[in-house]
Amino acid sequence: MRIAVLGAGAIGCLVGGLLAAAGHDVALIGRPARLAPVVGGGLRVRLAGGRSIASRPAVYGDPLQAGADWGVPDAVALTVKAFDVGEAVRMLQDAWPAVPFIVAFQNGIGTEDYLAGVFGPERVVAGTVTLSATLQGGEVVVFNRSGGLALAPVPGGEEACRRLATAWTGLPVPLAVASHAASLKWSKLLLNLVGNAVGAILQWDVHRLFRHPLAARLEHQSLREAVMVGRAAVPAFIDLPGYPVRSFARLVEWLPSGLFARLVGPMAARGRGGKLPSVALDLAAGRARTESPYLHGAVAREAASRGLDAPLNAALASLIEELAANPGLHQRYRDQPEELWRFLEARGLRP
Ligand SMILES: NC(=O)c1ccc[n+]([C@@H]2O[C@H](COP(=O)([O-])OP(=O)(O)OC[C@H]3O[C@@H](n4cnc5c(N)ncnc54)[C@H](OP(=O)(O)O)[C@@H]3O)[C@@H](O)[C@H]2O)c1
Repeated sequence: MRIAVLGAGAIGCLVGGLLAAAGHDVALIGRPARLAPVVGGGLRVRLAGGRSIASRPAVYGDPLQAGADWGVPDAVALTVKAFDVGEAVRMLQDAWPAVPFIVAFQNGIGTEDYLAGVFGPERVVAGTVTLSATLQGGEVVVFNRSGGLALAPVPGGEEACRRLATAWTGLPVPLAVASHAASLKWSKLLLNLVGNAVGAILQWDVHRLFRHPLAARLEHQSLREAVMVGRAAVPAFIDLPGYPVRSFARLVEWLPSGLFARLVGPMAARGRGGKLPSVALDLAAGRARTESPYLHGAVAREAASRGLDAPLNAALASLIEELAANPGLHQRYRDQPEELWRFLEARGLRP
């Protein structure tokens, strides 16, 4: 298959490298600075077990340039962050308005529905990656051993998902196929939420967060809200490559906070492979945008639309937006769980 990967960051280069290893013709489209090392030395994916996979995908600065030189793809893997999807879609509409398949690899909720509205559901497939990765020059470094890719259809896109799953066999990591995009994305969301908001605000990794009683309680309560809302929003949570999400959701519901922190905290920290959650990295870098509106914000919006309560997710999402907009304010919360507690109490929350 000819696959254009739009957004050559950690996940774009990972997905591109895995697809190239399976024999597909891959074009990576991304920022010139990110792609310069790939132009020079090719692309390497270093899996956590030590295996390294090398490839030489075609490399372009934008889809129009790729279209003129490399041609028209059979599928586009969209690997920009959720807040960049709108701009990426405009580029795709200009270059390849009739591309047969678009796979949305964003974490969080909402991208697939948006793409289905623009391109038609028969062309859109939901994708997810349960490998934690970072890009270092021309090398993607994967932190966790267990993990892989998963695909699922949006309503009306079942044939697209079936055809893509058939074509994408032979990847060097597991590829799972689920039956509902919403179940796939809400299941991945539960994993993404772990340590993400509280960790971003305090700038703590998951390991440290679960060892602090106050932070661990906040974390557990916000996850409880997400499980409650997710159960109302989708037919079922599903297990993802390397991650038994269904059992995780039950542990979130059943265990008291202290026990949850002691039992699940170390596992969750291992699942991250020592990497800070994405929202924490974005705030640390002083970026004005994070994916929080698609993560905790999505939990709060879904709750509101169903008459449910997810006040902690709403409060955490709004504080993260405030910190992203005013980086100077972050100093007040960094390493200060009591300050976060006061922020929540001022909003009538006593987790
Ligand atoms: N990293 C992980 O371990 C991981 C794991 C699973 C899922 N995910 C999800 O996968 C998605 C991508 O994450 P990531 O970690 O790969 O992010 P990333 O490293 O920031 O990569 C995204 C890349 O897309 C580029 N980009 C944005 N708009 C573009 C455009 N219009 N044209 C060309 N390039 C564009 C960005 O450039 P600029 O930054 O210069 O705008 C950036 O280089 C996110 O939704 C994330 O939550 C990540």
